[in-house]
Amino acid sequence: MDYKITSRNVDDTMKLAENIESEKFPGMIICLDGELGSGKTVFVKGFAKSLGLEDNITSPTFNIVKEYLTGEMPLYHMDVYRLEDGDENIGFDDYFKTDGVCIVEWSELIKDFLPDERLDIQFVVIDENTRIIKLIPHGQIYEDIVNSVV
Ligand SMILES: Nc1ncnc2c1ncn2[C@@H]1O[C@H](COP(=O)(O)OP(=O)(O)OP(=O)(O)O)[C@@H](O)[C@H]1O
Ligand SMILES: [Mg+2]
Repeated sequence: MDYKITSRNVDDTMKLAENIESEKFPGMIICLDGELGSGKTVFVKGFAKSLGLEDNITSPTFNIVKEYLTGEMPLYHMDVYRLEDGDENIGFDDYFKTDGVCIVEWSELIKDFLPDERLDIQFVVIDENTRIIKLIPHGQIYEDIVNSVV
């Protein structure tokens, strides 16, 4: 079952991320998709804030993955938008078998490498401040998480 939430401003998106953060577990994988400027990084900021990270979260432009190790649990933030063909083998699996939470922006670009069990989140821009956010859980753990946050 898929779930749709309407976010009416940045705070709504941050709040959703905070609610999902409260269900975190080591090895959690969250895959974010949606057009440029749809709110993926805003979601990561909300998640990071809730983890107690004080770092300013920006997209990992040059190194694809940024690691934040000073919160309640490690956070691995990937943005694969600029991945070049042939770069697929940068060791995603090591991150997906992690001791922390892995959040991937533009995950559709590496869909063949994604684990079967994960939470997909799709952002659709409606207007300047409105986003439809679709939660698509894969696996029972993620079903349960989605049920507890919606
Ligand atoms: N409801 C909303 N939720 C999230 N962001 C919103 C919302 N309304 C407006 N915005 C604005 O949309 C922009 C979202 O930017 P963000 O960097 O999160 O996008 P992105 O999906 O990560 O884009 P990119 O693909 O370039 O990484 C921000 O400027 C934010 O202020
Ligand atoms: Mg982004």
